[in-house]
Amino acid sequence: MGLKSDLIMCAILEAETMEEMVSSMEKAKEEGADLVELCIDSMSFSQISEVEGLLKKRPLPAIVSFRGGSKEICLQVLRLALELDVEFIEIELEVASNVVMTELMNKRSNSKLIVSSYVNGGTPSKEKLGDLITCLQSTGADAIKLVVDVIYITDVAPVFHMLTHCQMPLIARAMGDRGLISQLLGPKYGAFLVCGTLGGKSIPGLPPLASIKQVYKLEHMDSDTKVFGVVSNPVGHSKGPLLHNPAFGHTKYNGIYVPFLVDNVKEFFRVYSCNDFAGFSVGIPHKEAAVECCDEVHPLAKAIGAVNTIVRKPTDGKLVGYNTDCEAGISAIEDALRERQISNGQASQASPIAGKLFVLVGAGGAGRAMAFGAKNRGARVVIFNRNFERAKALAQAVSGEALPYECLDKFCPENGMILANASAVGMQPNTNQTPVSKEALGSYELVFDAVYTPRNTRLLQEAAEARAIVVSGVEMFIRQALGQFKLFTGGLVPEDYMRKVVLEQF
Ligand SMILES: NC(=O)c1ccc[n+]([C@@H]2O[C@H](COP(=O)([O-])OP(=O)(O)OC[C@H]3O[C@@H](n4cnc5c(N)ncnc54)[C@H](OP(=O)(O)O)[C@@H]3O)[C@@H](O)[C@H]2O)c1
Repeated sequence: MGLKSDLIMCAILEAETMEEMVSSMEKAKEEGADLVELCIDSMSFSQISEVEGLLKKRPLPAIVSFRGGSKEICLQVLRLALELDVEFIEIELEVASNVVMTELMNKRSNSKLIVSSYVNGGTPSKEKLGDLITCLQSTGADAIKLVVDVIYITDVAPVFHMLTHCQMPLIARAMGDRGLISQLLGPKYGAFLVCGTLGGKSIPGLPPLASIKQVYKLEHMDSDTKVFGVVSNPVGHSKGPLLHNPAFGHTKYNGIYVPFLVDNVKEFFRVYSCNDFAGFSVGIPHKEAAVECCDEVHPLAKAIGAVNTIVRKPTDGKLVGYNTDCEAGISAIEDALRERQISNGQASQASPIAGKLFVLVGAGGAGRAMAFGAKNRGARVVIFNRNFERAKALAQAVSGEALPYECLDKFCPENGMILANASAVGMQPNTNQTPVSKEALGSYELVFDAVYTPRNTRLLQEAAEARAIVVSGVEMFIRQALGQFKLFTGGLVPEDYMRKVVLEQF
């Protein structure tokens, strides 16, 4: 059985029973794997003949591995795999003595031997990994494999270094959630094989095979691919990869966008400082700390005190911080008001927010962005926030007014106000919550909700019933992502395409 592609996509299969392993092999084939790693040690079997039956049924080329457990059974399994001409036999460094390696090499016909080592217990240094690679190479293996248990995402950097400099085929994997980028970025550093999981099964550090093929399209990656990603913690929920990767493909831009699970944002930018790490979205809780990591910060982002986008200047490698949330939310509101003005024959050049009473709920990251945007457009800003001290601090920064949260529902000094919810109220799973009662919504000309999960919040449904103009957080989400993509790519704005992706998939 031969391998078809240049980049080999390998599904790692663990199963308790033979039947499960057989069905996993079939599933791997269906999902487009080129190769399966059969972790024979994960299964219970009483006779070696059961393993023989399994190996004979393999529908794809395979790696047979047997980690831990009895050395005798391990060698029995590996010898059997050689007899059956299985494509790859993996043997742990501790077992791969001269005697064993000589025996296996003499026995094999076409099988290739992989010698592997598992490194745990802390941040690995380049020197330690380099020494280990020398040891693995000296066994005479055809390929070597390094599995490293990392603590921080920055620990993956020495693994990339090994991939770039190793003189023979190296399979490298960093384990755990923080090791995921070892697979997603491996091909950029020369990895010839990436590992993934099947179906919905998630193993920390391994991406699903389906997303390797359909979202990240790693087979197109090369050493010139620019790296982008979202720096956040947690990061698993981020929709960024589902949006930016297809947009790179659509615009034929050689880039990849990955989740970066970051604990210490300063350390992250110190370690991944080369020009190929070209741009970042910044999420919770790093938006404020990230300001300090930038060499330059856009004045609006500086005033807001938070960046949600960082771009590395290709000329000098300096990091420049921006806040695309602000323009995204405010322009979405302006465009909706302008549309109404046009249909009423009242269009003007000035911002339709200018002079209006802008009632803002929330004083967190999104709230700060909206408050500064509204102030910049000449609105009068009134802020309600559960934590009143936070509301007061923001009101002071934008020369606005803070009022107690309990007064929000009764607040009605004039008609035609704008209501902007930038708090998490109404967000999944609390979709029955709303910051303002339906009865109070009659005084607002426009109601905006930054919450975008769900798309149509209770606040927006009730505002529409009260005949206000409604603007969804999805519109803000699309616009902030478009703003980021433009900054990342130096000007590309595939608006129709990105809108379509968001509306179809999210
Ligand atoms: N559409 C977009 O593109 C976009 C962009 C950014 C954010 N957002 C959304 O905007 C919302 C806020 O995000 P963020 O980044 O500003 O988060 P954040 O910095 O954590 O701030 C959360 C805000 O929500 C308030 N809040 C949370 N639970 C509350 C409750 N039960 N009752 C009253 N107030 C509550 C907090 O008030 P306290 O100060 O009292 O804690 C704070 O003002 C989220 O739903 C987020 O998904 C949307």
